[in-house]
Amino acid sequence: MQAYRASLLRFNEDTTAAFDEDGLLVVGDDGKVVAAGPYGALQAQYAQVGSQHWPGRIIAPGFVDLHVHYPQVDVIGSAADGLLPWLEQHTFPQEARFSDPAHAAQVASFFTAELLRHGVTTAMTFATSHVSSVNALMEAGQVSGQRIITGKCLQDRNCPEGVRDATEQSLLDTEALIQRWHGKGRLGYAITPRFAPACSDAQLSGAALLAAKYSSVWIQSHVAENDDEIAWAKQLYPSAPSYLSVYDGFGLLRERSVYAHCIHFSDADRLLMRQRGAAAAVCPTSNLFLGSGYFDFAAAAHAGMLYGLASDVGGGTSFSPFKTMLAAYYVARSSALTGNTAKQAITLSPQQLWWQHTAGAAQALGLQGVVGNLQPGCEADFVVLNPQATPLLARRVARAQGVDDLLFAMIVLGDERVIERTQVMRVAAS
Ligand code: GUN
Ligand code: ZN
Repeated sequence: MQAYRASLLRFNEDTTAAFDEDGLLVVGDDGKVVAAGPYGALQAQYAQVGSQHWPGRIIAPGFVDLHVHYPQVDVIGSAADGLLPWLEQHTFPQEARFSDPAHAAQVASFFTAELLRHGVTTAMTFATSHVSSVNALMEAGQVSGQRIITGKCLQDRNCPEGVRDATEQSLLDTEALIQRWHGKGRLGYAITPRFAPACSDAQLSGAALLAAKYSSVWIQSHVAENDDEIAWAKQLYPSAPSYLSVYDGFGLLRERSVYAHCIHFSDADRLLMRQRGAAAAVCPTSNLFLGSGYFDFAAAAHAGMLYGLASDVGGGTSFSPFKTMLAAYYVARSSALTGNTAKQAITLSPQQLWWQHTAGAAQALGLQGVVGNLQPGCEADFVVLNPQATPLLARRVARAQGVDDLLFAMIVLGDERVIERTQVMRVAAS
């Protein structure tokens, strides 16, 4: 066992934060949390356990990035007139480079290191359509120890040669990759149709068959991000009630399916998400950068739909959960300004924002009680935060009143300088 003493943040079942000014986190040899709570209450019981003390620091759950594209590391900050030109001009040319396993391996290890620098210990990420891109990232995940969920992108139409795959082979490759990687250590596989406009009916049907055969595998895709994309989906599926219902028609909405964006939704779409147990990955920096629109947090909460926060790098502009949480706050506050009078501006509390990037995102993945929290039984992935990391933050935190104020100061003023250490679950050698 090992114990860590510092301030301690974790989440209650009702999603509120539990915060101990002087806390103790006790981790077992299996890498899981044994106890978490006030130092005063736990100290006697764990007095024999070797401990580390970090005065002035905060131990918090490692962040969960619910949707990111590891092959888009070199696409960040590429301007375009919206999603579809951005894909054509910047994204597909970069992704084509992943046919080279050496390039994929280099980017994969950069990516896992970058996530760690930003305190992210679990990520669900797209690879490219190349099998080698999945192998490279899974291998990097074995080295880094993070929980990595990824999959080969399925995209057999309406995209350029170099990233386009072949229907039958793409499904054979997917099944072979599931068998090779899913459940190996902390790695997981996600069946990954890029989005309906880039996948033939045969490819979507085949993906759904695999999703039914391997029920613990995840599904990830994109939906209702951008007006032109939605018009395109409508043109391809004129009789579908909505873009989301296209996926449902193929059998691709289920628990452990995560759809990025979900911006331009009707209440019927939100209800369908809830009924199927599907989750939305909310990507505010990407949505602001590409001018896609504003996720409706109030309507999502009202519908009881699962959702969590995500960077969506390289449409997203940062790996930093602090930047993503702040952008989510802006988006929620700005919703009423979009001209859509149905949208309601809401104020997301700092605790809610933080939960949505940790325990809430884990719940969206079906990994509640496994990652994203530091309650007993959880895998001990954690960050050590330094709330004095910059002069302005130190000054602001010195007059923080209570946990919300402290968390908000870090959300607004923080970045990777606040992440003093990221520790992924360690299993003691037997
Ligand atoms: N829709 C289809 N592909 C992508 C992608 O790579 N990024 C984003 N933001 N949306 C997409
Ligand atoms: Zn995406």
